[in-house]
Amino acid sequence: MARPIIEPFRIKVVEPIRMTTPRERRAMLAAAGYNLFALRAEDVIVDLLTDSGTGAMSAEQWAAMMRGDESYAGARSWYRFERAAAELTGMPVVFPTHQGRAAERILCAVTDLEEKFVLSNGLFDTTRANIEGAGATGIDLPVTERGPFAGNMDEEAFAAKLAELAGQVAFVVMTVTNNTVGGQAVSLQNLRAISARCHAAKVPLFLDACRFAENAYAIHVGEASEAGRGMKAIAREMFDLCDGFTMSAKKDAIVNIGGMLGVRDPAIAERIRVELIRSEGFTTYGGLAGRDLEAIAQGLDEVLDESYLAYRFAASAYLGRALEKVGFTIVNPPAAHAVYVDAGAACPGLRHEDLPGQSLACAFYLAGGIRTCEIGDLMFGSADPGRTQHVRFALPRRVYTQSHVDYVGSVAEDVARVRDRLPAMRITEQAPSLRHFSARMAPAAPFPDF
Ligand code: F0G
Repeated sequence: MARPIIEPFRIKVVEPIRMTTPRERRAMLAAAGYNLFALRAEDVIVDLLTDSGTGAMSAEQWAAMMRGDESYAGARSWYRFERAAAELTGMPVVFPTHQGRAAERILCAVTDLEEKFVLSNGLFDTTRANIEGAGATGIDLPVTERGPFAGNMDEEAFAAKLAELAGQVAFVVMTVTNNTVGGQAVSLQNLRAISARCHAAKVPLFLDACRFAENAYAIHVGEASEAGRGMKAIAREMFDLCDGFTMSAKKDAIVNIGGMLGVRDPAIAERIRVELIRSEGFTTYGGLAGRDLEAIAQGLDEVLDESYLAYRFAASAYLGRALEKVGFTIVNPPAAHAVYVDAGAACPGLRHEDLPGQSLACAFYLAGGIRTCEIGDLMFGSADPGRTQHVRFALPRRVYTQSHVDYVGSVAEDVARVRDRLPAMRITEQAPSLRHFSARMAPAAPFPDF
């Protein structure tokens, strides 16, 4: 019999979880204006809001932090970070930044984007906001067919757009894994094809690499032509195919804060250097402490461990099965970092403008103190009848055990029982942009009792 895949770590430091009652949660959710971002984290039992910056660091990472060199310039920790980043990515120049969106902002600040276009398999919302803030238009061209590499760029659509917009495409971004389409992976074959087309057209290709290891593992197990290749070699080829990358280290470097930006072109590197010093900090720390650089260097090495990645994929698949078992429709295959539930299918009585994703997310909180994230009309700021309304159950790295997931499964059973009675949500206050972070809402009718 196959052995169960276990968490490949032991727990040395623990944080207590405060248990709450349904009655308390009802009052706290109402006080938060039915916005899960407005809750106090200590009022959450299982926090699946995001996998970003929420991971548990290893003993080696904590030990590395104690060795952090806090010198302003040329710190030992910088050289360790630089070596780790160069070994992984092969990029000649890598700059630290305080998180992923800072790397994106700097890349956009040093590129002429006025009235230009950026093509992508799927721009993350901060990437899009940075691109559009600099005067360009972002265009997503993901494939529409499902399957193991549903994060791919639609190659034909891409070739056509590249030809149509000849001379106007500032750069191309391949996001691995593709968070906006359910965290789906990108195949090496697709990356190679897009890279070849970009280079033929002399358009730079950037990797949004924040979940590079999860993508590399999906290639390792799912792309027949790559069978037998090691994780490091696969990850390296992903970077080799690109002219540069942005990365939020809060995901696959398993740290609580940090990011980076790497490029090959020395002229762009020079412009980045100036912009980095102006806004983030000197080039050998880029807005981070020396100890943060140490933790990233160590995390980049740990994340490529195959037993860790096998566990990571097994954990999300297990959560996905638990949700499917009680009748929810999920995006298949589940991403490593999250399971996406189809909220429209779960709440057939609610229309788009009723925000079924937010209603379902609130129900999981009321029923069991589980915090998830609506990824639908509330987040995107407009009602789009063609858009699938998702609730994302993101798994922080190395934080929750199988029994926490079993707990989520049992709460899901209670929510599934009343899913056709969940109320429409009405927005009572909202900001002009990025409204999901601060909007206040109210249910059109009371939530069922849990
Ligand atoms: N790119 C992708 C694909 C992301 O998922 C994120 C963050 C970023 C860039 C920005 O990185 O947060 O370090 O500035 N995603 C988080 C999430 C917030 O919950 O999916 P950052």
